[in-house]
Formats: sequence, structure tokens, C-alpha cells
Amino acid sequence: VERVFSGVQPTGNLHLGNYLGAIVNFVKLQETHNCLYCVVDLHAITQPVEVWGGPAELARNTREVTAAFIASGIDPNKHIVFNQSQVYEHAELAWIFNCVARVGWLNRMTQFKDKAGKDREAASVGLYDYPVLMAADILVYRATHVPVGEDQKQHLELSRDIAQKFNNDFGESIRRHGFNDGLFFPQPEPLITGPATRVMSLRDGTKKMSKSDASDNSRINLTDDADTIAQKIRKAKTDPEPLPSEEKGLEARPEADNLVGIYAALSGRSKAEVLRDFGGGQFSGFKNSLVELCVSKLSPIASEMKRLVADPGHVDSILVDGADRARAIAAETMQATKDIVGFVSRR
Ligand code: AMP
Ligand code: TRP
Repeated sequence: VERVFSGVQPTGNLHLGNYLGAIVNFVKLQETHNCLYCVVDLHAITQPVEVWGGPAELARNTREVTAAFIASGIDPNKHIVFNQSQVYEHAELAWIFNCVARVGWLNRMTQFKDKAGKDREAASVGLYDYPVLMAADILVYRATHVPVGEDQKQHLELSRDIAQKFNNDFGESIRRHGFNDGLFFPQPEPLITGPATRVMSLRDGTKKMSKSDASDNSRINLTDDADTIAQKIRKAKTDPEPLPSEEKGLEARPEADNLVGIYAALSGRSKAEVLRDFGGGQFSGFKNSLVELCVSKLSPIASEMKRLVADPGHVDSILVDGADRARAIAAETMQATKDIVGFVSRR
């Protein structure tokens, strides 16, 4: 069975984009793959402390993401749910990968440029190195499939480049250690699937829905109650035309395209099918149906999350158990990697 790995940062405001772009696919893949789902707390601290909120918020958000995974239908017994900082091998492999990745590769990463903003000199070294740690997250389990939203595509390409360069640089040693095909690390494949791989802001159809947008009305949070969801959708930006009857009518109408994509993803249908029902109609009617759909899908998750975070001891025990099982796999890869590189170690 192939292995899946993915991560979500505990930076607060989990939203519909995280759910439809990532978590829904995490849930599906449980049927066909061995899955590891990680709360990437080491990644969260790459941004300024005001962004991730400090120690108390970090702990709270780590438990909240864990609760969201479980409330959405991830089974922490059949699969592995854990937080990154408990498995030291992620950081250890990242160091070796730092010596494989090239500065030129990192300089091309658009997310660093976006997150660092104008004052690039003031960004943390961790933010710059973020994609290298991400490669280590995946490859320390030698995972082959990585479900993510569209925005992570470039980072996955970097992971592939790192895997390939490591295999090339150490090819002879890899073979000597019994990996006869010379492929110690696999090339992880991104799984970017569904009609909502890039959910956009409800206030501006050209910006992606984001945890850090100053306007709470720009996103639907997984913890929003029914009234809040209804208000946000009714206020969502649209254009004055009625909905088109065919998908190509959504071109150059980013807000309409976004809402139809959200409806399609939540209902498990294609955008074309959704437009067959709503094409020609006004937004107000469509929005009412979208509110109903959204509330029916999200409110059971919100209430289960609430129940779970009320018992942090239970959530923490899930994370400890997951970390133990993750470490068993990671430690094996790490020992083989150190042997391949030539580090002398205790046997
Ligand atoms: P993050 O919150 O940055 O850790 O993202 C967690 C997961 O959600 C990643 O797989 C992202 O690609 C995905 N994601 C984040 N924002 C969006 C969005 N607006 N639309 C679709 N997927 C998203
Ligand atoms: N960078 C991802 C994001 O912001 C989170 C992440 C960290 C991740 N490590 C990963 C995703 C490994 C997939 C695989 O969304």
C-alpha cells in the first residue's frame, strides 16, 4: 500500500479552503492508502510571533487542527495523526536536505516572496528554509503521495528535486546499502484534486481564502456557527449577471466561479452539474442553497471539534500515540540516511 503524507499549520482560523483543498481529500485517501497527517508546528513558527500568536495560541491551535482532522473523519487509530515537533527526525533530515537543496532553488519560491513581503531582510531564516523542512516531512516517511491545495505545488516540485539530487549525490553509497535501484527517496507526487483546489476570498475573487486575511468576512471558518456562515455568504461579493448555464460562462467571473466551485465541492458534484441546476438564476437564490449546504456540512464538524478541544488531555494522548508510531517509521529512514551519507553512529 502506498504511503500518503500531508500537513496543516496550527496558525489559527482553519477555513473552508483548508477543508476543501486538503482535509476532504485526506479523509478519502484513508480508504486506499496508509496515511500520516501532521500538525506542522515547526512550520508555524517560521512567521513572526504576532502571526502565530505566541506559546498559548500555538498549543491551542495545535489541538484545534488535530480536532478538525478527527471531526472531519480521519481515524487516528487506523492512520497516524501527530504533531511535527514530537518527531525529531523531521528537523534532523531537514538539516541534511539543507545541504542538498541549492540557494538558487529556494530563491525561486513564490510563497517566500509573498509571505516575506517588502522587507525580505527581516524574514526569518526558517521562512526561507520552509520548503526544505516540508521535503523532510514527506521523505522521512518515504511517502509517495501528498494531498495539498494548489498553492503547495511549487513546494512539492522542490521536494522532488531534493529527492532526486540526494539519490544522485549518494547513488553509489545508496546501492552499497542495498537499495539496488539507487532510488532511496521516492519522488513524491502532489494530489491536487476536486473542484476547489484553490478556494478564493469571499470579498475578492482574485485573492485566495487565507487564515491571515484581516477581514473575517473573507473566509468561512470551520468553527463558525450557522448564523455567521449565513451572513458571510449573503455578504459575499458577486457580479450583477445571473449565473451562467455552462462552465465556460464562469470565465472572467472569479466570484461566481468561486461560489459555484465551493457548492460543487461540498455537494460532491462537478461545476457543470451545479450550473445545470442554478444556471440562469439570480445569486440570491443560489446563495440561500449554498448557506443550507454549507451549514449542513460544517456544523456537525464544528460541534465535534468543540467537544474534542474541551478535553485537551484526550487530544494530547492521540498526538503522543501518533508520534510514537510515526517515529518508528522516521527513525528507520533516518538511520539509513545517516549510513548512506557516511555519519559514524552507535550500532
Ligand atoms: P496551511 O493552512 O497553509 O497549512 O494549509 C493547509 C492546507 O490547506 C494545504 O494543503 C493548503 O494547500 C490548503 N489550502 C490553504 N488555503 C487554501 C485555499 N484557499 N484553497 C484551497 N486549499 C487551501
Ligand atoms: N506547507 C504546507 C502548507 O502551508 C503545510 C505542510 C508542511 C505540508 N509540511 C508538509 C503539506 C508536507 C504537505 C506535505 O499548507
